[in-house]
Order: sequence, then C-alpha cells, then structure tokens
Amino acid sequence: MPLPHTILALPPVPADLLASLQGVGEVVVGSKDGDIAPVSAETLARVTGVITGTRVKFNAARFDQMPRLRVVSNFAVGTDNVDIAEATRRGILVCNTPGVLDRAVADLTMGLILATGRKIVAADRFVRSGQWASARFPLTRDVSGKTLGILGLGRIGQQVAKRARGFDMTIVYHQPRPNAEVEALTGARYVERDELLRESDWLSLHLPDSPSTRNSIGEREFGLMKPGALLINLARGSIVDETALVAALTGGRLAGAALDVMASEPVSADHALAQLDSVILSPHAGSATVETRRAMMEMAVANLLAVLGGGRPQALVNPAVLNPA
Ligand code: 8YV
Repeated sequence: MPLPHTILALPPVPADLLASLQGVGEVVVGSKDGDIAPVSAETLARVTGVITGTRVKFNAARFDQMPRLRVVSNFAVGTDNVDIAEATRRGILVCNTPGVLDRAVADLTMGLILATGRKIVAADRFVRSGQWASARFPLTRDVSGKTLGILGLGRIGQQVAKRARGFDMTIVYHQPRPNAEVEALTGARYVERDELLRESDWLSLHLPDSPSTRNSIGEREFGLMKPGALLINLARGSIVDETALVAALTGGRLAGAALDVMASEPVSADHALAQLDSVILSPHAGSATVETRRAMMEMAVANLLAVLGGGRPQALVNPAVLNPA
C-alpha cells in the first residue's frame, strides 16, 4: 500500500533525517537552491507537508495549488514568507525553529559589531591591495565602553546582550514592554525608542518582519541617531528604509552599517549599499553554521512528522488551528 503522505523538502535534508521522512511518505524536492518553481502542478496537488526556507512564499495562491497541505514547516524562526492568517483559515499548521539558532545569530551580530568598529574587512582589503607598504591604516574605534542599543530584546537580542556585556558594552534596549527578568539576566536597561536611537553607538535590530516594523528605521530614526553611529541588521531587511540608509551613510550621519539581511535577497553586486566602503554585507548567514543548520533541520523535520502523525509540533506558530476559539 502506498504511504499516505507526500512531503516536499525544499532545503537539502541530511540522509538520516530524510530516511525518517521517507518512513511516512514519498519525499519530493525542488530546485538545487531550494526553490519550488520546478515542482509540477500534479506533485503540488499531492503534497501534505512541506519543509521550506524563507525565500519561498506560501500564500492563498500557493495553498490553492496544494489542496491536501496540512503543514508548512519553516526551516527558520521567521515566518514572514507564510500568510499565517490564510494558513489558519485553511487549517494548515505553520511551524518554525525558535531557540536553536539564537546563539549563532548572536555570535555573528557580535562579530559584525567588532568588524564595523575595528574595520576588520577594510583592514584586510588594505593589506591585500599592498597599501600597507606606503600608507597607514586609519585608527578605528573602541567597542568596549560604548553603548549598544538593542531593538527587540527577545531570544536573539538577549544572547546579543550577553555577549556584548562580555565586551564591556553598556546595553540599552527597547521593545513594546520592558522585561524585568531579562534585564536582571542581561544587565540591559529599558529606554524609550527615541532615547535608544539617541544613546546608541551601535544600534542592533532584532525584530521580526511585520506591518509595524516594515520600513520602521528610516530618515527620522537616522536623524535621531548619534552622528557617527553604526547600524547592525541581522533581523529582516524590510525593517530598514534602504534609500534613507544610503542617504544617512553618504551624508555622514552614520559611520557605517553591517547588513546580513536586505529588503530584497539575494542582492546584486551593483546594489547602492554594495558600493559603499562603510558597509559590510553578509549573505543572510546568521544561522548558517553546520551545527545550527543541523539543529534547525532536526526541529523542522520533527515538527513536520509530529503534525503528519496527528500530534502537536514543538514549535507551532498558529495554535488557533488546533484550539479554535
Ligand atoms: C533562515 C532566518 O533560517 O531563521 C530565520 O528566520 O532568517 C534564517 O535563519 C535561513 O535563511 C534558512 O531559511
């Protein structure tokens, strides 16, 4: 008898985890880079569960192509690629991978704070281009003793605060409500949003994409920031108004930025931000370590198998599907 499920696995799944998926159904794949485009309409019509990265959109039109779909298991903590309200309306469970990537994203955040302050990337360019023989590399800036402003002291923001404390930074944060417990753990101090912008030597964004965060860091915010401040974004590119960022950098308001995420990805080499030496770019790689991606895939597979087996997944974004009001 054929197994009841068809699982669409878009990111590569290690052999042992693939075998556990094959235990419950036929497993189909997309393109080499995890895109859904090559999957035929006949296959999509059979799919009951999907594991996907955030570049593939799941909206009403996609759900119409997949009438048997029961679960979208995101290989990510962010679920901005999925229309959650529409999935919930159709009884499709949406899962994600919170927790397991916090440390890796925080490590890269700390790396980019250090890289912007100490100009690590520019120093490498300076030596390789042979300039060391005839010029002096400009002085850089201390990280220790400076103020780090964290917008969004959630799971990842807290790990960033913990690391920054080890570098003797003063940590201020803002989010809709203060969290006394987390303040005690991280030593971060709650401030109003404008105060955060005014006080921070580095501003690091750790917010999800949502209608209220989209383009929320723009001309007004850059205008409030300290002259010479630095922006770090490992959250979502949509949060930053990139035109305003280019203006703040070229106008000298900001000294630099490090961006792991961009409004539209992947960015091409001729993007305006890629022309600026004061900007460090990284290819949406916050969680991209061997260990973390493995842990994320284990969780994505476990979430999917729990739903297809009739159970409750570990990380469910729309519990309303299971407990309708
Ligand atoms: C993605 C991310 O997981 O988790 C997130 O929200 O942005 C990344 O860690 C990565 O792009 C793979 O989909």
